Amino acid sequence: MAQYDVIIIGGGPGGYNAGIRAGQLGLKAAVVEKRVTLGGTCLNVGCMPSKALLHASELYEAAAGAEFATLGIEVKPKLNLVQMMKQKGESVTALTKGVEFLFKKNKVDWVKGAGKIVGQGKVEVTAEDGSVTTLETANIVIATGSEPSPLSGVEVDQKRIVDSTGALSLPEVPKSLIVIGAGIIGLELGSVWRRLGAEVTVVEFLDRITPGMDAETAKTFQRSLTKQGITFKLSSKVTAAKAGKSNVSLTVEPVAGGAAETLTADYVLLAIGRRPYTEGLGLESVGIVPDKRGFIPTDHVKTSAPGVWAIGDAILGPMLAHKAEEDAVACIEMIAGKWGHVDYNLVPSVVYTSPEVAWVGKTEEQLKEAGVAYKAGKFPFSANSRAKINHETEGFAKVLADAKTDEILGVHIVGPQAGEMIGEYCVAMAFKAASEDVARTCHPHPTRSEAGRQAAMGVEGWTMQA
Ligand code: FAD
Ligand code: NAI
Repeated sequence: MAQYDVIIIGGGPGGYNAGIRAGQLGLKAAVVEKRVTLGGTCLNVGCMPSKALLHASELYEAAAGAEFATLGIEVKPKLNLVQMMKQKGESVTALTKGVEFLFKKNKVDWVKGAGKIVGQGKVEVTAEDGSVTTLETANIVIATGSEPSPLSGVEVDQKRIVDSTGALSLPEVPKSLIVIGAGIIGLELGSVWRRLGAEVTVVEFLDRITPGMDAETAKTFQRSLTKQGITFKLSSKVTAAKAGKSNVSLTVEPVAGGAAETLTADYVLLAIGRRPYTEGLGLESVGIVPDKRGFIPTDHVKTSAPGVWAIGDAILGPMLAHKAEEDAVACIEMIAGKWGHVDYNLVPSVVYTSPEVAWVGKTEEQLKEAGVAYKAGKFPFSANSRAKINHETEGFAKVLADAKTDEILGVHIVGPQAGEMIGEYCVAMAFKAASEDVARTCHPHPTRSEAGRQAAMGVEGWTMQA
């Protein structure tokens, strides 16, 4: 029987990074993955294919709309959806193969099949052909990720009513698409299909989009998406969906009560959140009881069962690939007798639309609720030279800092390349920087990062360029 120091169940960003770090630290490690490729949701049907389509559709729209013409480039683009999907698939394959390579490089075994915990230190793996192997290990790491949350009355058939996986591979550009849920998936994939020509309506339960995002930032973001042609129906709930051969009828009601209406579209994307995936995992064999929403309870990444750890989307916290990666490193370092730690306050979020939205730390609402006195500095991209030259002037950067100590508490950016800009603030905040530290640091000109610096200057009221 194979003996391991650590067996990781699930080969997504949590699991594969755990495997690699374990290999680096000299632990004998295996990753059990039942999908035919490594990389989990993120590489196969999440982050990567969605970013491939966001990139391609953004360029298509730039060429097809006013953007190229404004720059003096006259072209008449023709959409080749088959090729767009093909290049997406090729990039995904290259990335999943890359993880396989990293496993070999770090001497991590990929055990193919579905893993089940059958007692302390025992993992049973059922291969695709039905054969069963039992592996022994000192530590088990659960990294089984998440799946789309269902909605009663709306049955996903992946034909007309799709979840994010279906929406990444529609066979045609819908004339009309209704997205249920104004969260990150709905707005990213809604943007993809709108750019390619679909009429997109987003139905959202709450009275705002992207809950969790700083409210002022979300308002600016919604205004921008509306200008692009996305229609929002807020404070509305979908109570039923009926898929026909070529379209779907949705029954939509105001959350506050009132008359129901019927909306019809070629396709419907259900994107109301994700839930932890722990089906058939044998948690009961080690006495782990998931919470009401299915998350595995942990103290950091330690479960209640000795030698069993859990990371990534399967535990509480932001359901993001880079958070899963942080969990993975901390978990494996603890297993290796080192000191692992994740600062969940410093896990950034990015919405990869156009404009992008990125933030880290606290929102204004959170600071107000916690009674923290803060100062805000804000700088519009319309006054940033690089953004102006590139005709990308929507949005702003906003820095929130403690009123007494000047420590940066939160940063919110809506604008071009916001996702690339936020990393600077993650580092600054990890070093407990004051807004003045950023304000007095020389930034390259002309770059969008200067908007971040000017916003930091704004905390003490000396923004110079707006
Ligand atoms: P997963 O990636 O879900 O991996 C879990 C793996 O475990 C899966 O491969 C599954 O097959 C396997 N598994 C489950 N049970 C078993 C079992 N019993 N035996 C063997 N294998 C098993 N996050 C970002 O940070 N940035 C983004 O841009 C982003 N975009 C996204 C876009 C979409 C459309 C979606 C759906 C998600 C996106 N996410 C993004 C979220 C990100 O994909 C997840 O947070 C991340 O994949 C979680 O990693 P994980 O390792 O915890 O789980
Ligand atoms: P989400 O939690 O971001 O948003 C779901 C939205 O659906 C919320 O606005 C919620 O109020 C709404 N909603 C819930 N029930 C509803 C109902 N019955 N009717 C109408 N609206 C309803 O979830 P989403 O978009 O499905 O994404 C899941 C997770 O995947 C994200 O939270 C994020 O962690 C991850 N993700 C990250 C990305 C990134 O980092 N760029 C990209 C895509 C996904």
